[in-house]
Amino acid sequence: MTLYDIVRPVFFKLPPEVAHSCGKNILKVGCSSEIIRERIRSYYQLNHPSLKMKCLESEFPNPIGIAAGFDKNGEITKSLIDLGFGFSEIGTVTPDAQEGESKPRLFRLPEDEGMINRLAFNGEGANRVRDRMESMGNVAAPISVNIGKMNQSGPEDAIKDYVKVFETLYEFPDYFVINVSCPNTPEVYDESSPERLSEVFGALQEKNKHNKPIAVKVGPDYDSKEKLANLSKAIEVAEDHDIKAIVATNTTTDHSQLKSKHGQEWGGVSGRPLEQKATDTVECIYGLTDLPVIGVGGVDSAESAYKKIRHGASLVQIYTGFVYKGPSLARQITTGLVELLERDGHASIEEVVGIDCKEL
Ligand SMILES: Cc1cc2nc3c(=O)[nH]c(=O)nc-3n(C[C@H](O)[C@H](O)[C@H](O)COP(=O)(O)O)c2cc1C
Repeated sequence: MTLYDIVRPVFFKLPPEVAHSCGKNILKVGCSSEIIRERIRSYYQLNHPSLKMKCLESEFPNPIGIAAGFDKNGEITKSLIDLGFGFSEIGTVTPDAQEGESKPRLFRLPEDEGMINRLAFNGEGANRVRDRMESMGNVAAPISVNIGKMNQSGPEDAIKDYVKVFETLYEFPDYFVINVSCPNTPEVYDESSPERLSEVFGALQEKNKHNKPIAVKVGPDYDSKEKLANLSKAIEVAEDHDIKAIVATNTTTDHSQLKSKHGQEWGGVSGRPLEQKATDTVECIYGLTDLPVIGVGGVDSAESAYKKIRHGASLVQIYTGFVYKGPSLARQITTGLVELLERDGHASIEEVVGIDCKEL
């Protein structure tokens, strides 16, 4: 039993956004003293040679990262690394501050170990994030920035939005992620179509003076041949534009299996109900390209992280698992991964990427 098992029922009595703010504040206060940070690091971080991963022109101390949305404004980035995560994604960052959808817009699905959100890119905007990243100093693990557009922007303004965030934050992250797959932003055109991606990638690469790695984040919902063909074309377009990785996946629009009270609230579903869909998407992309895949969706244990990696993910990210399992999750997973590698006779995590994929 962890301390979080005792604290969680109290957190779960609060509205989810309030609980998230409380958690963030506890981390901010806890990590404001270097002495406490050192203690936290020595308890939570596991530095093991078998977990190191070279990817996206960076070296990751372990392959378990924080997914976009958890630290939207770069407020707790260093604390998350102190807790044992091997990398963290800030954002989605939009050019200006925006409110997102009206509340309530975030729901726990306890019976499903999932969540539904329709936050729609609420955030403080690129300048505020820039101030924070400027004063952050060195971080002991790779940091990415996930970029998005303002909710009201049409196709032309959206390109300007992506470019603005990219340029405002250019020097800070180790790589960028373009988010074209959020299921709860209100655009009436398809932001993730191959034609559209080509325009977005082209505009960003034109401004990419120092060849900073750029990844793209895709969704998990490919329930028709046409959608699958579009994914395949999107990967080709990404390769043609020198995109360096694919993040798979964002939340799903499929609510059909949900049992919890709030299961039919509109918004993107994350956590356990997404796990298999996300893993299938990772495997599909792994079969389509040599680009590294960052696997996201329903990971909450060493076993589920190992499965994503064996099905093609070079790196893994977590959001909902952290809400259900708490701050010792990264340590539990990294410790468990070392054991699983030893059990299966592998010297490193790099060795197992994709070994359960059908194509091999
Ligand atoms: C509350 C919440 C907010 C999110 N916000 C973002 C976001 O701003 N940008 C983004 O790319 N993904 C966002 N996501 C999606 C996550 O990054 C991740 O892709 C998804 O939740 C699946 O991972 P999980 O099952 O570990 O939660 C959000 C997810 C949740 C639950």
